[in-house]
Amino acid sequence: MYPSHRPRRLRRNPAVRRLVSETSVQPRHLVLPMFVREGIDEPAPIPSMPGVVQHTRDSLRAAAAEAVEAGVGGLMLFGVPAERDATGSGAVDPDGVLNAALRDLSADLGDDAVLMADLCLDEFTDHGHCGVLRPDGTVDNDRTLQLYGEMGVVQAQSGAHVVGPSGMMDGQVGVIRESLDATGFADTAILAYSAKYASAFYGPFRDAVDSQLQGDRKTYQQDPANGREALREADLDLAEGADMVMVKPIMSYLDVLRDVAGVADVPVAGYQVSGEYAMIEAAAANGWLDRERTVLESLTSIRRAGADVILTYWAAEAARWLRGGDRA
Ligand code: PBG
Repeated sequence: MYPSHRPRRLRRNPAVRRLVSETSVQPRHLVLPMFVREGIDEPAPIPSMPGVVQHTRDSLRAAAAEAVEAGVGGLMLFGVPAERDATGSGAVDPDGVLNAALRDLSADLGDDAVLMADLCLDEFTDHGHCGVLRPDGTVDNDRTLQLYGEMGVVQAQSGAHVVGPSGMMDGQVGVIRESLDATGFADTAILAYSAKYASAFYGPFRDAVDSQLQGDRKTYQQDPANGREALREADLDLAEGADMVMVKPIMSYLDVLRDVAGVADVPVAGYQVSGEYAMIEAAAANGWLDRERTVLESLTSIRRAGADVILTYWAAEAARWLRGGDRA
């Protein structure tokens, strides 16, 4: 009798497939990145990210409450200030747009969902880099660290449960940990963007935050050609006190996610970035892909590769799809 091995036995009907399905995506695994912009009266659509908007402070509160109602595990907040300067001072101003919005959400949501804040200067600097510049135009790692330390404290004071340093400065996790501990915020967690690549997939995000960047971030973000370096970055972040580590982007970096998940002894996150969102949205809008099935398959594959937590612009919608069932 041939074939003697028949893997199709375990695929023959929905009941057996459901029984042996290894990976699931649940609303609690998903974190919704959100943008809040200063000085607008109506939410502003982001053309390259159909369905995603820059929120006003009020529309942010409503959308955040809806996402939490849908069951998402957390929110990651990005601020778009009206004014920018060379040192990104809006980032450390307690009344800056990001910190003010954190206070709003913290008051509205309490502990119903995990409130996370992007900890980076690029949205706040007039040159668009993630740190402050030296006179020669290069990014000054160690001066930037001082500002990140301050930024973390203001975000914690404003109600962030988790801060997410995304600037890829050396030593950022250690400095932020130290300044949080020194100011009474020992319980504020750090989600380290450990392996963050200099990626073309961030294209639409630059629209989302009205990025001022000229040039690129290749002196601080990683080269997409390198995998080993991701493990070193994750090790350093863990040694500096990271509570969770993240890989970003994710769909072209599932190998990196797998490797990091294999060594990290903390939860691991993956960030499905703006360009990954835009690709699927564009294909679905053309009728070339089934939107819901494609999105859920992408989330399932990110979980399968080792992510405990997924940051995705579909978080609220996917949570609604997933609710009640154990599909995917
Ligand atoms: C930088 C930051 C970026 C993203 C998140 N944080 C952009 C960049 O590094 O150029 C990208 C997120 C996305 O593309 O969805 N603070």
